[in-house]
Amino acid sequence: MLSSKDMLGLRETSAEEIHEILNTAELMKVVISSNNKKTPHLQGRSIMTVFYENSTRTRMSFELACKYMSGTASNISASASSVAKGETLIDTARTLDVMGTDVMILRHPMSGAPHLMAKNVKASVINAGDGINEHPTQALLDMYTMREKLGGVKGLRVAIVGDVRHSRVARSNIYGLTKMGASVVVAGPPTLLVPELDALGAEVTDRVDDAVRGADVVMGLRIQLERQKKGLFPSVREYHKYFGLTEERIALARKGALVMHPGPVNRGVEISSEAADSPESVIDEQVTNGVAVRMALLFLLTRQKPETGGVRI
Ligand code: CP
Repeated sequence: MLSSKDMLGLRETSAEEIHEILNTAELMKVVISSNNKKTPHLQGRSIMTVFYENSTRTRMSFELACKYMSGTASNISASASSVAKGETLIDTARTLDVMGTDVMILRHPMSGAPHLMAKNVKASVINAGDGINEHPTQALLDMYTMREKLGGVKGLRVAIVGDVRHSRVARSNIYGLTKMGASVVVAGPPTLLVPELDALGAEVTDRVDDAVRGADVVMGLRIQLERQKKGLFPSVREYHKYFGLTEERIALARKGALVMHPGPVNRGVEISSEAADSPESVIDEQVTNGVAVRMALLFLLTRQKPETGGVRI
């Protein structure tokens, strides 16, 4: 049983709750690989994706998760909604709430937007990425993939490399992985690091080779050009040379180490094509596991809400 009506971040999620979500996702994954992708778990439930930023993986995997469990999936984007006419986030959220939405899944450029939404609606709110704060379902699917491939998360050394400063994926992974007993080292150019991350429990270094050496998992992060001012690194070519994940650099990791990336990938920038497509890469598996984890979360959050019964006509 999850303690909150919402999933706003892994900072406020316990290790027991993470275990429960990952265990449930294991059952859901069986559905994805079957020829009958239909369960009744969300029958009669209404799920809304509310995306104020672009997305392929997160939005589609939530929509498919809902459809695989027989729920009603709807979506709204900022450009096609009354937000473009000046409506506030709270007014939009209340409008969707009174339409009978059970779960709202919000991606927003402002850190804390899902927390604000959750306080103003009866529906469950899932954070699908808020500014540079958190992306909890990405970290959950990352941990699921590590557990599936390496047998567990406890005791692993995970190197997270790249644009750590602007990364909600890094923050959620630091919260989640440390709670689950892994050690995390984050690495990148000094201009893309924030020393405060060591207060969250991660080792912080600007030496990528040191971070990768002996790691069980090497996770690349996308350079988030849309969130950064110019001048944080001299050029894309130089960035790739000194901080990019190449096959040579990944060879420093433990034998059998996983290569991960949340996507979308900038090939030849934060990771080379050879490394992204290598046998060690589990980038495709991460995407598949994203559907299973999001099915699990939708199931667990809606299970908490009592059935009120349908109208007989
Ligand atoms: N990893 C991730 O959040 O990808 P999308 O932006 O495509 O959703």
